[in-house]
Amino acid sequence: MKLIGLMYFLFCSHLNAAPINVISEISTLIRRIIWTNWNQFNIEFNPDSFLDTPKTIIKAGYPVESHVVMTEDGYLLTLHRIPGGNDSLPVLLQHGILATSAEWIVLGKDKALAYLLADQGYDVWLGNFRGNTYSKAHISLSPLNSTFWNFSFHEMGIYDLPAMITFITNMRSQPLHTYIGHSMGTSTFFVMASERPKIAQMVQMMIGLAPTVFINMKSPIRYFFPFIRELEIPMRLFFENEFFQSDFVKFLLKNICNQNIVPNICANLIFMIYGDDREQFNYSLLPVIFNHHPAGASAKTILHFAQVIESDKFRKYDYGRVKNLLIYHSTEPPNYDLSNIAVPVALFYADNDWIISTEDVKRLYHSLPNVVDMYEVPWSKFNHVDFMWAKDTSKLVYDRILKLMRRENPNNVTSVE
Ligand SMILES: *[C@@H]1O[C@H](CO)[C@@H](O)[C@H](O)[C@H]1NC(C)=O
Ligand SMILES: *[C@@H]1O[C@H](CO)[C@@H](O)[C@H](O)[C@H]1NC(C)=O
Ligand SMILES: *[C@@H]1O[C@H](CO)[C@@H](O)[C@H](O)[C@H]1NC(C)=O
Ligand SMILES: *[C@@H]1O[C@H](CO)[C@@H](O)[C@H](O)[C@H]1NC(C)=O
Repeated sequence: MKLIGLMYFLFCSHLNAAPINVISEISTLIRRIIWTNWNQFNIEFNPDSFLDTPKTIIKAGYPVESHVVMTEDGYLLTLHRIPGGNDSLPVLLQHGILATSAEWIVLGKDKALAYLLADQGYDVWLGNFRGNTYSKAHISLSPLNSTFWNFSFHEMGIYDLPAMITFITNMRSQPLHTYIGHSMGTSTFFVMASERPKIAQMVQMMIGLAPTVFINMKSPIRYFFPFIRELEIPMRLFFENEFFQSDFVKFLLKNICNQNIVPNICANLIFMIYGDDREQFNYSLLPVIFNHHPAGASAKTILHFAQVIESDKFRKYDYGRVKNLLIYHSTEPPNYDLSNIAVPVALFYADNDWIISTEDVKRLYHSLPNVVDMYEVPWSKFNHVDFMWAKDTSKLVYDRILKLMRRENPNNVTSVE
């Protein structure tokens, strides 16, 4: 334990102590070394690996808009949009932890969910939670101030989603036809729907991919969580701001994983954390994936998930008995009331998901009053991130999403298998 704390101390205190310009100098140096290598081996690279979400969308041949919305607590969030026609139905897609709106376009034209939905005539909105690359802004707080990072997925649920959903429904003068979330994009939805039912009423259906509420993970990162109490203090001290100095880590991963020499290491890292599915993984996407990951998260979000795992309860942030009493009027944090969620929900899950288990999803199914579809992806190796990145996701997952969404529209009824 002491060793881990010490490693954190040495590693992170140095990172945090290093002024920004030192980090950028090191980055430049690494960039130079890597680019030299690159040219030397004449490795082709995927040009998408240097584009942000809007530029990637334009390159794929779609119109794009960016909108900034403000939350009740002052965060400025960017919504990306592939606008549909005047009669189109709005759909909001919400990414998971350390990710961005780019998650929904990584697979490219004819394969990625955002494009498939646009092709079907939907008005496609891609959200970005506070703290990620596109939403690292606040009306008065700088991201360099640790108060900026004082949030977990709870605040994303009670502030970010209401701000985005209200903006879209006001602009379009109609309810949100479908909310689609992946991983933390589902946890946040269930927080919102249980804490702010009025907002949830503006959503006609929710589709949860790898719904992350109860978490019994197979992933080796679980060995990390029993130490979370010990890690809490170093994490607070040294990641008080952002979990990962994401710009730097991102830069490293992006450039290392772009190399033909090492992509196996990067892919193995993904398999080790999320579940092993080599067959469905497209190695050419690695540079694109690491262009967008990791995109910034608060230490408090990580700690809150660790608490969910440890307590085996989907409940509010645990501040410790004394402070809990002040905030919640009870020594234990209250559970989110899932039985309060009236929105029709579809749950998509996979057998080889190392973050959440099939039992976790079944437990969620029994806790929710209105589940309209329960779907296990028919590929035994399908893992947590295959929902975004697998070669056959459009066939295995998105086809069913489109069918579910069509059933919602009485003007265009199609039978669902
Ligand atoms: C869509 O609505 C806008 C504003 O109401 C209107 O100016 C425009 O002509 C409409 N477009 C179509 C294709 O109907
Ligand atoms: C961070 O922001 C808070 C609230 O605005 C302020 O009280 C505090 O002084 C700021 N801290 C730093 C280091 O700027
Ligand atoms: C962070 O937010 C919580 C709850 O909103 C509050 O109780 C706490 O004092 C805040 N901590 C800091 C350091 O701002
Ligand atoms: C893998 O990704 C590349 C780059 O986006 C793409 O051109 C190729 O068609 C993909 N292969 C498969 C089998 O999906």
